[in-house]
Amino acid sequence: MAGQVEGKVALVTGGASGIGEAIVELFAREGATVIATDIDELRGPDLVRRVTKAGGKAIFLEQDVTSEERWIEVVAEIAKRYGRLDTLVANAGIGIAVPSITEMTLGDWRKQNAINLDGVFLSVKHCLPLMRKHGGGSIVMMSSLAGLRGAPGLSAYSATKGGVRLFAKSIAMECAAAGDGIRVNSVHPGIIDTPIWGKIPTGATGAGQNAPIDPEERARIATPLGRAGQAAEIASGVLYLASDASRYVTGSELVIDGGMNAGAVPRRQ
Ligand SMILES: NC(=O)c1ccc[n+]([C@@H]2O[C@H](COP(=O)([O-])OP(=O)(O)OC[C@H]3O[C@@H](n4cnc5c(N)ncnc54)[C@H](O)[C@@H]3O)[C@@H](O)[C@H]2O)c1
Repeated sequence: MAGQVEGKVALVTGGASGIGEAIVELFAREGATVIATDIDELRGPDLVRRVTKAGGKAIFLEQDVTSEERWIEVVAEIAKRYGRLDTLVANAGIGIAVPSITEMTLGDWRKQNAINLDGVFLSVKHCLPLMRKHGGGSIVMMSSLAGLRGAPGLSAYSATKGGVRLFAKSIAMECAAAGDGIRVNSVHPGIIDTPIWGKIPTGATGAGQNAPIDPEERARIATPLGRAGQAAEIASGVLYLASDASRYVTGSELVIDGGMNAGAVPRRQ
């Protein structure tokens, strides 16, 4: 049986770790040629070695999503190597937590926005022309449950993810109006067990302390299904949105959160 994204060329930003890594692995297993980009120049090449050893097609390009110059180079490289781009997964993101918004520095606010929002804007701006050349494709933007609901201490993060949600819908309308065959959707993970939880800077300056956040512990209490999600469980939703199985789906939001957005249940002992 052919893979679900057989023959497609897919770019995954933030592809070296966590959810991005799981998407790269799954897309490659399902027949895509994957370009994984990230600032992490250690994990990225490692992942690509693993994928190619398993028979998949993938390359790694170092990329900071906030650099427009680098976006121009990355898209030119994809055009040169493959001549097309069918799928963009704008996944790279960080979270900056502060005890109160009054303690957030403008520098941290801007950093949060630069990666989570400017990076997504630049990805669409520079990938769309190449995607349009070959009759369309699918853009998946990684938002969050925090893009649907407020999250105390994570207001800047929430602002970016809420922005991504409506940016996705607006680009979906722009593409539909252009009749370019490009579908655009957002994905909203709940609490997923990835390295991001150990990297969240907290405190008045946002200066690098790691918050002692255990996603599993948090999810046991907060999630109706009683556990944290796995990166692979987000990747399977992204695969659906990238594949032709979702050909009538655009401007929608796929919530994968163990039920958190729907409500709360009393915890069993
Ligand atoms: N893990 C969760 O619970 C959760 C929940 C909701 C949404 N998300 C979102 O999912 C996405 C992936 O997060 P994850 O949990 O896999 O985290 P992660 O930290 O494991 O992976 C994020 C990747 O993005 C990369 N990255 C960071 N800044 C970058 C930059 N400027 N340019 C390019 N790459 C950069 C990192 O190096 C890392 O490899 C993020 O957008 C995150 O906000 C995660």
